[in-house]
Amino acid sequence: MGSADECRARRGAGSGWAQTRDGRGADEYSALAKVPGFGYADGHSSRTAGREFAGEVRMGEGRVILAYKHTSVLLNEAVDYWFTDPDGVYVDATLGGAGHSALLLSRLSPRGKLFGLDQDPAAIRRGGECLAQETRVTLLRTNFAALEDKLREAGALPVNGILFDLGVSSPQLDEGERGFSYMRDAQLDMRMDPGRELTARDIVNSWSADEICRVIRRFGEEKWAKRIAEFIAQARETHPLTTTGELVDVIKAAIPASARREGPHPAKRTFQALRIAVNDELGVLERALDQALRCLVPGGHLVVITFHSLEDRLVKEKMRSWLGKCTCPPDLPVCVCGAAASARLLNRKPVLPSATEIENNPRSRSAKLRAAEKISESLNDTNS
Ligand SMILES: C[S@@+](CC[C@H](N)C(=O)[O-])C[C@H]1O[C@@H](n2cnc3c(N)ncnc32)[C@H](O)[C@@H]1O
Repeated sequence: MGSADECRARRGAGSGWAQTRDGRGADEYSALAKVPGFGYADGHSSRTAGREFAGEVRMGEGRVILAYKHTSVLLNEAVDYWFTDPDGVYVDATLGGAGHSALLLSRLSPRGKLFGLDQDPAAIRRGGECLAQETRVTLLRTNFAALEDKLREAGALPVNGILFDLGVSSPQLDEGERGFSYMRDAQLDMRMDPGRELTARDIVNSWSADEICRVIRRFGEEKWAKRIAEFIAQARETHPLTTTGELVDVIKAAIPASARREGPHPAKRTFQALRIAVNDELGVLERALDQALRCLVPGGHLVVITFHSLEDRLVKEKMRSWLGKCTCPPDLPVCVCGAAASARLLNRKPVLPSATEIENNPRSRSAKLRAAEKISESLNDTNS
């Protein structure tokens, strides 16, 4: 059976892929319905755009089957910044459900190319099945911390645009067994790449209460971090915490009832913090951004969508560092730091999702998009 057939067969067989109301497509429909050149196989209206979709979309002569239930955030905005040249080479550093990639592909000529990266084998497997007929696409299972080496090995460099759409995808959250969700009882795992050693279970059972407190405070911005860490340390004295459900109970016990009554789920911040620590999300992002700039052609665009303030601050500061602002002490008569601009910002303020997008996809609420353009390397040379 061909990969497209497999995608369709899986949908029909109800194997956990999103099912349609009519048994053929999705119960919810995708923003991709809006994509020019795309159409549902059964001609569904694009007025349902903005909701999730798992189904078939046509693309030029080829066909892309999207059977991955993830609603792309800031879809058109991101692709508008990412795309510069129909014949160009592009990198989706966080393929996920390939929603952004699919829209980009609809704008590329037959000469254009797309490299899709993801550290999660499930995302690459589904991407492989669903984009297999797309000869313009190459999928690479890798952490984007190795972006430059992987693209060089693949003969992709230099490229015209790179997109990072950070964080987890809906299937990672929804597939209970991954352990990302406080809503589903599962093993405490939270690895996007199951080949990584460190799991959330390791952190809660073997790190000191002080280390756990630091993680929850820093990455979760949780004001009850100290109490939660103490309650975890106490609970694990009886037996190791092995499931998300056990951890949620401990967190609920640690946060006073009055504080639990308002705001998000009491475990939300702690789960986010553990996920960030398990996957070293800030560390790999820090390593990847300079690499991404080096991988671009002059005039090429880097687009980053973040979902929490620490990530956004990191991206903002990194992009600012590329502007070549002089760092010499103000009392020096001439510049000696040799600062030279390597990029310019494409948006001074981050792009945020509209009220409609947030209403249709509450997971987009905290998204911020920043974009930068690499400027001419000859300009760099001249300035330095
Ligand atoms: C928010 S989803 C991307 C969704 C995608 N843009 C779409 O429209 O369907 C993020 C994806 O990035 C992947 N990811 C996160 N951090 C990564 C990293 N350091 N290296 C490679 N992939 C990563 C996750 O596994 C996940 O599949």
